[in-house]
Amino acid sequence: MALFDFHSHLLYDVDHGVQERVRMIEIFKRYKAAGFGGICLTPHLFHPTVHTKIENIREHYRTAREDARELGLQTYLGSELYVGSQMELQCMPIASRYALVEFSYKLEPMNLKARLMSLKSQGLDIWVAHVERYEWLGLRSKAMADMQSLGCYLQVNAEDYGSKRVKEFLDAEIVDMIVTDNHGKLDAPSLLSRILDKEALVADRMENIAASLCSDDDIA
Ligand SMILES: [Fe+2]
Repeated sequence: MALFDFHSHLLYDVDHGVQERVRMIEIFKRYKAAGFGGICLTPHLFHPTVHTKIENIREHYRTAREDARELGLQTYLGSELYVGSQMELQCMPIASRYALVEFSYKLEPMNLKARLMSLKSQGLDIWVAHVERYEWLGLRSKAMADMQSLGCYLQVNAEDYGSKRVKEFLDAEIVDMIVTDNHGKLDAPSLLSRILDKEALVADRMENIAASLCSDDDIA
């Protein structure tokens, strides 16, 4: 089965990822060449230091989806929701069912479990971005136990592969996805492809997740 990248900032001129459509297409071509069949486009939402042009998302996605389709790539629109101090959590779920979330690297969010449960109560399953980057998220921490009890899917970033933290999480077999979190790098797809060649368990889990995405992406 073709490879999938479940987290990227390739949707052009929306956040601090790729800015130009031509660059996005150039990167899409690299995904195709590296054996990928699909990419989730997940611009930041509510990030404290990243400005997101929400007004561009739908229109640019229609263009991006066509550009990808011409290359034989499937795209899914979603978002990467920063869970900060906002009262209500709102996101654009991937395939209408997956909420990709991120947090402060330094400080554990207040009431983490309750906040994640509020996403679950919207009928969403949760993907947690780059778990290796949160200083407060130890393998045996309460926060990790809470995430696991809620059935969260855990992502690590390909560029952190080889680090002590990622190795620890991989050894514990708790990693569900390795992703690029690509902000514009041409070589990210080939890096991810090489890593997945070595990580059969995660590659297998990713194949199942890819199969769970609906075949017709929803931009309504
Ligand atoms: Fe990201």
